[in-house]
Amino acid sequence: MVAVELRDIVKRFGEVTAVDNVSLKIRDGEFFSLLGPSGCGKTTTLRLIAGFEMPTAGEILIYGEVQGYRPPHRRPVNTVFQHYALFPHLTVYQNVAFGLEMQKVPKNEIRQRVGRALELVHLRGLENRRPKQLSGGQQQRVALARALINRPKVLLLDEPLGALDLKLRKAMQLELKTLQHEVGITFIYVTHDQEEAITMSDRIAVMNEGEVLQLGTSEEIYERPANRFVADFIGETNLIPGRVGSLGERPQLHLPGGAGLPAGWAQPGLRRGDAAVLSIRPEKIRLFAPAAAPARSPASGAVEISGRVEQAIYLGTDIRYVVRIQGDSSIVARVQNTGQADTLFQPGDEAVLCWKLEHARILKE
Ligand SMILES: Nc1ncnc2c1ncn2[C@@H]1O[C@H](COP(=O)(O)OP(=O)(O)OP(=O)(O)O)[C@@H](O)[C@H]1O
Ligand SMILES: [Mg+2]
Repeated sequence: MVAVELRDIVKRFGEVTAVDNVSLKIRDGEFFSLLGPSGCGKTTTLRLIAGFEMPTAGEILIYGEVQGYRPPHRRPVNTVFQHYALFPHLTVYQNVAFGLEMQKVPKNEIRQRVGRALELVHLRGLENRRPKQLSGGQQQRVALARALINRPKVLLLDEPLGALDLKLRKAMQLELKTLQHEVGITFIYVTHDQEEAITMSDRIAVMNEGEVLQLGTSEEIYERPANRFVADFIGETNLIPGRVGSLGERPQLHLPGGAGLPAGWAQPGLRRGDAAVLSIRPEKIRLFAPAAAPARSPASGAVEISGRVEQAIYLGTDIRYVVRIQGDSSIVARVQNTGQADTLFQPGDEAVLCWKLEHARILKE
């Protein structure tokens, strides 16, 4: 079942196009993230779904119903913002109960529902504290409880962990994910933190300049980026410049020096001779001393290219090698620090880089 559908949504503020023709479907019960850099239109998209903004064009459906000009309080959604906006003079209990009291829900029912919501966010026992007597993470949980108590079908979360320090953020990421599982509500989660989106989401829409550039599971987006922006924004990648050689089942990128690097995929629309980049993630690369490089037949599905180690950076769990190859490109390889002699290189050493064809993708420049 589809929980929220955006059909050709455009939102302009004067000259600025904040959301540029976005269509997507968010499934019922899904943890869905909108991910992208500052200003790409994430908050605007969320506010359109909530009904705080009206689209310039296109329509939004929630559980199959066109929302039109329906105001926020008449939509089956609730929003948690980055700045929790708790009432400072009210206790935790009163903050969470506030909405229900306004709706004149019977006292007994309020007590039950507040109790249940506070239990969900692990705040039982702190009912009588005021916001300033709570940590940032606890305040954020009060905001969550307050949003959950109305039993929204869809919860919209706009960088809800943005104000927390790294450690608390990590802990809250896990809690939020567990909570979402428990309550079975659709979460639409906005973040500019790619690691956060990857850890928490069932699916992610990667946005830039108002457009959705790729939509898929964490794994799809990380392993099979559809374009240069996504490859670069999610994780770390090498983008080796060259020109498209052949296309077809085994496309090739020609380096400026002339050598061809085969890849597993080329972005649709590329033509022979076009300037392009080959994307390969540092951890997908293995390094061998020239004498130790395994002999491979071209059919083995692996790519080899030789180079010279320029830098070796010790990272504890990994060693990061910068290797210069033909055509003057530097490639970063991240090699697990197993302590084995055959994984250790010094600047100046000759080395052979090796990766699987399927991990290399030719993308538009
Ligand atoms: N009310 C407004 N009036 C004019 N321009 C706006 C308004 N709201 C947003 N914008 C512009 O629309 C674009 C998208 O803004 P939005 O807040 O959706 O970005 P975002 O992806 O949430 O960014 P951030 O990660 O910084 O929160 C930006 O260029 C922003 O300046
Ligand atoms: Mg925002």
